[in-house]
Amino acid sequence: MDKREFKITADGSHTLYVEALDETYHSKHGAIQEAVHVFIEAGLNYFNQPSLNVLEIGFGTGLNAFLTLLEAEKTGVEINYTGIEAFPLEEEIIKGLNYTAELNSTDKEKQLFKQLHQVEWESTQKITELFSLNKTKVELEQFETREQFNIIYFDAFGPRVQAEMWTEAIFKNMYNSLAKDGVLVTYCAKGSVKRTLKAVGFEVEPLPGPPGKREMTRAKKL
Ligand SMILES: C[S@@+](CC[C@H](N)C(=O)[O-])C[C@H]1O[C@@H](n2cnc3c(N)ncnc32)[C@H](O)[C@@H]1O
Repeated sequence: MDKREFKITADGSHTLYVEALDETYHSKHGAIQEAVHVFIEAGLNYFNQPSLNVLEIGFGTGLNAFLTLLEAEKTGVEINYTGIEAFPLEEEIIKGLNYTAELNSTDKEKQLFKQLHQVEWESTQKITELFSLNKTKVELEQFETREQFNIIYFDAFGPRVQAEMWTEAIFKNMYNSLAKDGVLVTYCAKGSVKRTLKAVGFEVEPLPGPPGKREMTRAKKL
């Protein structure tokens, strides 16, 4: 796997820089801020129902899973979370991430962050009463599921560096993996991406982006 280097983003939280791609895992304007805005507020909190199936494309640092778990503890919503990842991070990197410090996490929450990472690949584990996690090590291009998700956190590297993650074939698969009225949310607001989402049947809603970005996208399966 290409080398990952820690960088501090504008809100103080870490991201990882991949020199081979000249790309970071998150917005340099704030990793936590971006994750909360795009995935929690525009994705998770778009729904008001007692249980949700969430699929994340690119589990990476586990930041989105952790924020989702914390939100579930607040709202009481039951979450079945599936994270797929082709290149799991090394333990040394995971240990160095500052998310629990930046979020002022309690000791119990710090332990839960660790537990998310300790779940074996190709297994499912209940982390709290409300949150269970399934981790699958697979390339998105090969990913198949019979599950129907309510939300997809589409958090792949951007189309500039990983065009193969933003194709019609991939979005068709994402569309088929969603339940009716399900949504895919992404930080990306590129015109060509929105057109591809529309081409496979999504209703595309541009939304204000997190600090530093004008727009993000929510795509709904009708
Ligand atoms: C923009 S990063 C976001 C990661 C994560 N959501 C986070 O907040 O840390 C994209 C992630 O997609 C993963 N990835 C890259 N190529 C992939 C592929 N073909 N299939 C699945 N995941 C892939 C990367 O390893 C990385 O973890």
